[in-house]
Amino acid sequence: MNNFSNILVTGGCGFIGANFIKYLFKEENFQGRVINLDCLTYSGNPENLSEITLQYPNRYIFEKLDINDFENVYKTVESNNVDLIVHFAAESHVDRSIHGPGQFVQTNIVGTFSLLEVVRKLDSMGRKIRFHHVSTDEVFGSLGSSGKFLETTPYDPRSPYSASKASSEMLARAYAHTYGIDITISNCSNNYGPYQFPEKLIPLMICNMIEGKNLPVYGDGKNIRDWLYVDDHCAAVWMIATKGRSGNTYNVGGENEWTNIDLLNSLCELTAELTNKPKNHFKNLIKYVPDRPGHDRRYAIDCEKIKIELGWKQSVDFEQGLKKTVEWYLANKNWIEHVKSGEYKHWMEKNYGAR
Ligand code: NAD
Ligand code: TYD
Repeated sequence: MNNFSNILVTGGCGFIGANFIKYLFKEENFQGRVINLDCLTYSGNPENLSEITLQYPNRYIFEKLDINDFENVYKTVESNNVDLIVHFAAESHVDRSIHGPGQFVQTNIVGTFSLLEVVRKLDSMGRKIRFHHVSTDEVFGSLGSSGKFLETTPYDPRSPYSASKASSEMLARAYAHTYGIDITISNCSNNYGPYQFPEKLIPLMICNMIEGKNLPVYGDGKNIRDWLYVDDHCAAVWMIATKGRSGNTYNVGGENEWTNIDLLNSLCELTAELTNKPKNHFKNLIKYVPDRPGHDRRYAIDCEKIKIELGWKQSVDFEQGLKKTVEWYLANKNWIEHVKSGEYKHWMEKNYGAR
């Protein structure tokens, strides 16, 4: 098992990054420091870590930096003796990538390249850094009604988002192969849980229910996604970083496939129950809307490799995880208000009107 003293997390103010940093501070096997490097786009919110800032003033550092800023990222990594980088920072939403792919190329591809260059430069001076690249199952494309993505499935990205993630992943693989950089990669299915920006399916629907707005279902609602509670993803990333074999990729998934419409119906019932409303109260808000262009039909992950090799398994079942998630959004209306009030608000109005 690798022991790390100084972990640089990129994108730590976003959904999974913030949950991962919280996870690290609960992890007994880690007593070192965390440097959170994030430039705070619309989806990054430092308040997600306000407790950590107060509780661990000597072990937690926040650096407001763009991953593309080679000079300052280099200085941060070098001066903090970073021995592990966990790279979450990205533009992460498919819909936004359809409206504006340029930022996805700049952040996800060029930004990852810049980080890899930092690691390569330090490596050439004898400083060894493990680089864990966080990726998605969407790089593998879209499945029919059967089959699952394996680690060996060829890339077949079909949205600007997944194409940018596949590109960055290929760069990471190339740096491992060509320069011998110590790289691991994870490809995970759809995450859900607290702090997810309310543009992704589950938090968007919960927030719209709270606000009494329509619940927009793309196309026929029969597209399938595999859902995993965010803490289980964080545990997988930590296991891969500490115990994964260098140069390897690991699939991570919930083994929990749902059509969007079935999931939404369950979410409506659960939210009704938790807000003391009649069972079908929120279902009246469901509205079928035109499909997302290029909408992938089905994702499903085969995650036997990480289970057998590293002993990882899902620990939160879907019913339990969804309940915790809805309760969290109901209890954190100020957070919702806050994150939706900035750049995102203008973007939504411009692209979707008053949806
Ligand atoms: P998110 O959008 O919630 O967070 C992204 C974070 O990255 C934000 O804090 C943002 O400020 C930061 N960031 C963006 N551009 C940056 C830049 N140029 N420099 C520094 N920081 C920057 O995303 P998320 O859902 O937490 O996803 C995190 C990672 O996990 C992404 O790489 C994503 O592709 C991957 N992933 C996400 C899912 C999912 O279901 N959300 C599933 C599998 C993999
Ligand atoms: P999303 O959360 O955007 O994740 P991804 O596209 O990366 O899988 O969407 C999950 C599924 O929900 C996807 O099939 C698109 C669908 N969806 C809707 O039907 N309505 C919506 O408003 C959103 C945001 C997504």
